[in-house]
Amino acid sequence: MASIKDVAAAAGVSVATVSRVLNDHPSVSDDARTRVQAAVETLGYRPNAVARSLRTHETRTLGLVISDVVNPYFAHLARSVEEEARELGYSVIIGNADERPDLQDHHVRTLLDRRIDGLLVSPTDGGSPLMLNAATNGTPMVFVDRWIAGVDVPVVRADGRAAVHDLVAHLHALGHRRLAIIAGPAATTTGSERVESFRAAMSEYGLPLPDAYIGQGDFQAESGRRATERFLDLAEPPEVVFAADNLMALGALDAIRARGLRIPDDIALAAFDDIPWFVHTDPAITVISQPTAELGRAAVRALVDRVEGRAAASVTLPARLVVRRSCGETGEPGEPSAVRSPAARPSPPQRSMS
Ligand code: HPA
Repeated sequence: MASIKDVAAAAGVSVATVSRVLNDHPSVSDDARTRVQAAVETLGYRPNAVARSLRTHETRTLGLVISDVVNPYFAHLARSVEEEARELGYSVIIGNADERPDLQDHHVRTLLDRRIDGLLVSPTDGGSPLMLNAATNGTPMVFVDRWIAGVDVPVVRADGRAAVHDLVAHLHALGHRRLAIIAGPAATTTGSERVESFRAAMSEYGLPLPDAYIGQGDFQAESGRRATERFLDLAEPPEVVFAADNLMALGALDAIRARGLRIPDDIALAAFDDIPWFVHTDPAITVISQPTAELGRAAVRALVDRVEGRAAASVTLPARLVVRRSCGETGEPGEPSAVRSPAARPSPPQRSMS
């Protein structure tokens, strides 16, 4: 493989000049720059990133540890993280924790061993000693989407509370009164925030939220299916199921269809997180949509600020309610809903006995 000396010899310049061209230094003549670029091209020269890291003590690499790469929300987030990092001159190594604290630790340890310049984490839990240590021992770190309470690390996230409130107001205006939630794991901040804000909004609207209307899920489709089956088996099933993430909503959809029930006539469905295929289901699903790409980009900017020695603050972006047709809306999709009178509600569907 060609070395920097070979490039210098081929271009008829010094090694220092080649280095200046490679680093985009302005004090190089146009002629020398052109000859160096031609020699780099002809010889297929690639700078040695390892040697550079040893010299500069930086790897121009960020770590991203996400909770579940199969969840379309996190896949979308990872894409925007990689894009923004690339634009700022960094590569990204992704570790998928698969919602497992042990795997999360494995990735954090491996990334630290590789001397990444900074770490973006969407934690699966309240944080192991390894993670908490990394957060406080000077590794530049930023939490994205989820966070660990009490740890002094900037958090980039969306405000789910306001959007959950808007959803409950929307459902109330449509005449729905019996609302159930499939919650995410309480050990995650997104899991607990969504159920707490749902509870607060229900109470504000004077709507009861019995324990039987709170299904415990794990952000995976199967848990959404099981929780929905339990709701449908109740003597008085809910009128609406709100799934606290997109995968649990898919599970809920399966359970509702498996009983031969129709959405929204027999039961309504709403979800946290928009995914492209929620507009292609019949009916299209009413969701709370997060500015996922903006979150990923803002998280990288905050992390690079920390890596490069600048201050970085937490960022909270708004999530918004996107009204479609899965809750009995009659207005134009995307517009505030037309209010359906409770009297127009169809009689409760036939339920199977468990
Ligand atoms: N889990 C699952 N889906 C999500 C989350 C989460 O924490 N945040 C946004 N979508």
